[in-house]
Parts: sequence; C-alpha cells; structure tokens
Amino acid sequence: MIRIAAVGDVHVDKDVVGRFRPALEELPDRADALLVAGDLTRHGTVEEAKCFATEFGGLAVPVVVVLGNHDHQSDQEQQVAEVLTNSGITVLECSATVLEIRGHRLGIAGAKGFGGGFAGACASNFGEREMKTFVGTTEEISARLGEALRSVRCDALVALTHYSPVPDTLVGEPLEIYAFLGCYQLGHAIDSAPTALALHGHAHHGSERGRTPGGVPVRNVAHPVIKQAYNVYQLLSESVDAPLVPA
Ligand SMILES: [Fe+2]
Repeated sequence: MIRIAAVGDVHVDKDVVGRFRPALEELPDRADALLVAGDLTRHGTVEEAKCFATEFGGLAVPVVVVLGNHDHQSDQEQQVAEVLTNSGITVLECSATVLEIRGHRLGIAGAKGFGGGFAGACASNFGEREMKTFVGTTEEISARLGEALRSVRCDALVALTHYSPVPDTLVGEPLEIYAFLGCYQLGHAIDSAPTALALHGHAHHGSERGRTPGGVPVRNVAHPVIKQAYNVYQLLSESVDAPLVPA
C-alpha cells in the first residue's frame, strides 16, 4: 500500500509560515509522500516561494507540487519553480516523476491545467484569435499531461493538477465560473492512462469527491475544502479513501 498526503491552495506568505509545519512534521508516520496541488503562494513572488519552501521543504517524505494560477501572478513562475527545486521539492509541469516506496513505484504526472469548462458548457477553439489562444492553451496542456501520464512505468499512477478535470468537485461554486475552474480535456487526459487517483485544487468552495467519465476517483484537496493540513489517500488498496490513521 502507498499512502499519499495531499493539499492545495495553501497560499503561503510570511504570515502563514509555521501554520502547517507541526502537522507536516508528523507526515512520516502518516504518509509516504506529500503532493501539493498548486496555489502554493498568494501572488507568485520569489519571497513567497521562499516562505513556501521554508514551510514545506526539508520534510522526511518527498514533496511533489504543481504551480497554480496564483503562482503565475507576478510572471515569476520560473524563479518560483527554481526556489522550490533548490529546496528539494519536485515541481511538475506537463512532466512526471517516479518515487520508490517500499518496493512499489509511485508515478506522478502533473500539470497546472487551465480553464475552458465541461460538457454542454465549454469554450471552443473557434472564432477570435484570443479565444483560440485560450482554448488552444487548454488543449495543449491537457494533451501534454496525457503524454506525461502515459509515459510513466509504475505500480500506481497519480495525476496532480491545479485546475479541476471534472465538474463533480466544483459543486458549491457558482455555475457561472465552472469554465474558469477546470476543463473536460484534463479528464480525458487522465482517462487516457491507467490513473488510480486524480488530485486537484483551485475550487475553494467546491466538494472533495468526484470521478472522471472513465471512473478515476478525483479529489479536490483545496485547503478550504479539506479544512486540515492535508488529507491522506491510499493506493494499491481497496479504496483510496479508507483512512489508515484515524483522524
Ligand atoms: Fe487557483
């Protein structure tokens, strides 16, 4: 069995440092790896990235993250990723990594993702150049996530995104903004590989549980949704949600 701790949208700045750390220090007893589903910072500055690295770096378990839209706000996403990488944190963007955990290979493919909407209420790659650029970005990121997922040879495969791959986990958000919270193309990418679990954030007022059209369990781990430092999920197990350690 592999145990994964996950959270998203922690939006770390100076005032947040120290808030997550006590729970993170307990991770080795509870999980084999920590995945963070983007919006690591408030405004994507290098200073905030250093705060995130202070809070989430140097843990006794591997930490794998994707960036979120907030981490792009200051147009310093490369520098932000560099700060994190230099702190021993693995940053995925349309790429994958494999962790060896007690003889099992855990594959994680990650991408920020993008908006666009879901069946019956989505933007299409048509018309104005700006619209084609928007939906083209969605399609490209999703296609590259699919390639990353299919490239991994592992015993258990996880998809990590910031934007949602399904509408199920957006329930609680205004319907009018679903198209800015995720897109169906990410769900198709996840279904194109033997994905065991899909994790995302971004939808602070959404719901925790959903499923892709292909049946892959989806979990919205945005901090305001799970309301704790992290949730723990199980892979190579009967259910991803069976709690290993009573909360
Ligand atoms: Fe976000």
